[in-house]
Amino acid sequence: MTKHLAVLTSGGDAPGMNACIRAVVLNAERAGYDVSGYLRGFNGLLDNERITLNAERMHNLIQQGGTILHSARCEQFRQSAVRKQAADNLNAAGIDTLIVIGGDGSFHGAHALKEHWPGQIIGIPGTIDNDVDGTDATIGYYTAIETAVSSIDKVRDTADAFDRVFVVEVMGRHAGFLGMSAALASAADFVLVPELFEDASASLQQIKQQIIQRQQSRGPVSYVIVLAENLWPNGVNALCKQVADTTGLEAKPVTLGHVQRGGSPVSQDRILAVKSGTFAVDLACKNISDVMVGIQNDRLVTVPLEETWQNQKTLGQDACKTALHLMNQRYID
Ligand code: F6P
Repeated sequence: MTKHLAVLTSGGDAPGMNACIRAVVLNAERAGYDVSGYLRGFNGLLDNERITLNAERMHNLIQQGGTILHSARCEQFRQSAVRKQAADNLNAAGIDTLIVIGGDGSFHGAHALKEHWPGQIIGIPGTIDNDVDGTDATIGYYTAIETAVSSIDKVRDTADAFDRVFVVEVMGRHAGFLGMSAALASAADFVLVPELFEDASASLQQIKQQIIQRQQSRGPVSYVIVLAENLWPNGVNALCKQVADTTGLEAKPVTLGHVQRGGSPVSQDRILAVKSGTFAVDLACKNISDVMVGIQNDRLVTVPLEETWQNQKTLGQDACKTALHLMNQRYID
């Protein structure tokens, strides 16, 4: 009997998800599978929203942002009874293998499905946050960096023209990968990410000192601060007000928001997506289950799903040291 593989995208969409779906579908079809896609993440499993996927549908897709399968979060999937319903639906549809493209929350849900479903489950990390442990990069992260950097470059132009202070808020959920990379690549003057954050008043004093020093040596200056979301008490507007109160200079807020989730994926994300999707189908053919496909030191690896959320992925020490060096701050090893 022909085996049946299904794929879905779950959680925050990320550029490159389509490239990954394409790789999964082309390789699975070549390996002799029937291939389906569930719509809107785990919600599609519950509502039996499923479409047939084939090579023809994958044409002209690799460069498209978003996800043709749509994505969503599915709070109710935390309940065992709900997952039982999903398992029943998977069985009724004759699915042998489920590939979940998403973040660690989605992998949590996928792993929990095992309680009711004996099929094969494989995760592929896709999120702009890059906060999944066990892989150096997640699909979408590189494109989000590019989007943030090109936006910060533009902010810098107007900041320079007016000698103004700007605070640019970037996404990342509770991790600083996107913020740190965007700050380094755009030569931001200050970066506030959870991994390096000590306390608000110390940061404000550092910002004030730097601005004063630069004004003394250069006259009026522009100053761009990159702020990771969910970090500053009461958000970017509160930080702008506090910077203004501390320095006497007006500070303008810019929230990049969901812009960072969209757009055509950059080559690095497309290549990561192609490699990961191809490897996931190899694993499917070998009956390997309950793992995530990761990339470590440029090699594809398998990581037990459970390990992807148990430890918090840490920001590289070299990136931290470089950033702090540029900002003339000390680094505590
Ligand atoms: O996980 C991706 C992400 O874009 C985070 O960076 C952000 O915190 C969150 O999703 C936003 O979620 P939503 O689209 O539900 O507002």
